[in-house]
Amino acid sequence: MALMTYEQARPWAKAIRTSVITGKMPPWTADPHYGKFTNDLSLSPAEKQTLVAWVDGGAPEGNEADAPKPAAFTEGWRIPKPDVVFEMPQEFEVPAKGVIDYQYIPVPTHFTEDKWVQMAEVRPGDRSLVHHSIVVIDDGTGVNNEEYLAGYAPGSEPQIWRPGEARLVKAGSTLVFQMHYAATGKAGRDRTKIGLVFAKKPVTERLVAMQVMDPMLAIPPGNGNFRVDASLTIKHPVKLAGMRAHMHLRGKSFQFRAVYPNGDTEILLDIPKYDFNWQPYYYLETPKLLPAGTRIECTAYFDNSANNPFNPDPAALVRWGPQTWDEMMIGWVDIEVPVNQDHSLHALVH
Ligand code: HEM
Repeated sequence: MALMTYEQARPWAKAIRTSVITGKMPPWTADPHYGKFTNDLSLSPAEKQTLVAWVDGGAPEGNEADAPKPAAFTEGWRIPKPDVVFEMPQEFEVPAKGVIDYQYIPVPTHFTEDKWVQMAEVRPGDRSLVHHSIVVIDDGTGVNNEEYLAGYAPGSEPQIWRPGEARLVKAGSTLVFQMHYAATGKAGRDRTKIGLVFAKKPVTERLVAMQVMDPMLAIPPGNGNFRVDASLTIKHPVKLAGMRAHMHLRGKSFQFRAVYPNGDTEILLDIPKYDFNWQPYYYLETPKLLPAGTRIECTAYFDNSANNPFNPDPAALVRWGPQTWDEMMIGWVDIEVPVNQDHSLHALVH
């Protein structure tokens, strides 16, 4: 649905009121008490009140002369002209109906040298078919070999990192496009691509996507509040730039905490009502210094009971797996590490 004009928005007035009051829209699941994020979509109480009052007042059009200028949208890349574009090797045929398994499409970079990526934008071929796309870097070493590069979901912004900060794509890496397609009733084709802009200035800090996870999780059947914990300890001082929670359909809540060497605990990000459909990175307004010895803890709760309307099978003992009916528990953490430091996971954490 489009909400560009009064005529388009007016029929949705009641739905807008409900979705704003319940917090379903705009989609933002972080508890506002913890952390300030650059990509925060949430409305202030005053903004919510304005929308609700508009609906309660009969959703009038108001004076056209007071209307804001229509939003300007960019056709094509929203990042500067990419230095390189990688595309799915062929179109994927999306059927009209049914549930489509995630597609994992490898695209070799054929890079003969390491590349520092300063900006990245994933562009779907057909926006009506792409539920989301996540592009990860597989450096072929089999160690931490699925590093997050960039993603797309409706409404998402291209990834533009701070000057001096970049992601490393090593020579010989393969980009893996994780594609989630949604059937719309009309069959179609998609060929999604990613554009990369390389760093033009010296890079001082490498962004490293780390995973705090528990691949051994086993969620008992019927359990409505099953807790899973995972943590890792940072060996060197680093800066925390962003976080992202990942679970599947039984995910209920997720929390990131820092336990500092002096024993103090700080909640970094709290997602009290996890929603599988909305899994953004939460980028900190100010990257947070984590002294050596800081433990990053993640706590997830899962609802494997019949009360969870998204639960594919409450009778199943659920373990880790790639399919949505399997589970995962990953706290992605983006950390900034000085480039002259050893970046192997072994060197960074224990
Ligand atoms: C003040 C801001 C917003 C308002 C008032 C709003 C309003 C709405 C409404 C009324 C619906 C239909 C809900 C229903 O079916 O009952 C909806 C759905 C949706 N909105 Fe928003 N929205 C806002 C912001 C956003 C943003 C920022 C995004 C993307 C980042 C977004 C993405 C979506 C999507 C993908 C759906 C379909 C969800 C589904 O089918 O489950 N919305 N929105």
